[in-house]
Amino acid sequence: MRIAVLASGRGSNLGALIDAQRGGNLPVHIVGVFSDKPSAPALALARESNIPTAHLDPRDFAQRLAFDLAAFATIAKWKPELIVLAGFMRILDPRAFEPWLGRIINIHPSLLPKYPGLHTHRRVLAAGDRQHGASVHFVTAELDGGPVLAQVMVDVRRGDTEQGLAERLLPREHALIVACVDQLARNRLYWSNEGIRMDGQPLACPLVLADDGTLETRA
Ligand code: GRF
Repeated sequence: MRIAVLASGRGSNLGALIDAQRGGNLPVHIVGVFSDKPSAPALALARESNIPTAHLDPRDFAQRLAFDLAAFATIAKWKPELIVLAGFMRILDPRAFEPWLGRIINIHPSLLPKYPGLHTHRRVLAAGDRQHGASVHFVTAELDGGPVLAQVMVDVRRGDTEQGLAERLLPREHALIVACVDQLARNRLYWSNEGIRMDGQPLACPLVLADDGTLETRA
């Protein structure tokens, strides 16, 4: 499956996808990496990995929608079959990604529907939650609000800091995004008009990442 990745920063989720693909464990071709930040380390990582890159600077556009349309026009040239938002830190205008509905996913560091938006680790600690995690969802007009494909959980420990919690979650995020892209690439998991389907069956609730890196239905 041809995938394009959008990233604004560090690019560790991109790195996980590249490593899995190189290791022969992920049947994808990463056709391009797009960023809204010319200096994003994710772009440097893509270049080092000989993956085509593109970036556009939002400051060069008078309106948000104009930037978003230009971004998707750029991405469309790579002819991706799936677009993966992996740390892409801009809110996109739904009019720009409407043609991609059902073919665009995002990884978000919380157990959605809890904590859409920013500072999720801080908010989990402030609320005294015992469990945290990450979600992969289809992108829709609602911010971090589209149907969730799969989640991974981590326990919140006594004395956890925002940074400590983020560091503990990150490798699990990597496994989650790789597992989701894998299942999408194998056409086992897909969006249908009636909701997400797994092996042809409607998914009643999000899949859960097991310790061995596979996705399981919730017991
Ligand atoms: C991840 O925590 C992801 O869930 C969130 O932004 C972060 C991106 O990290 N959307 P990286 O750029 O992939 O390292």
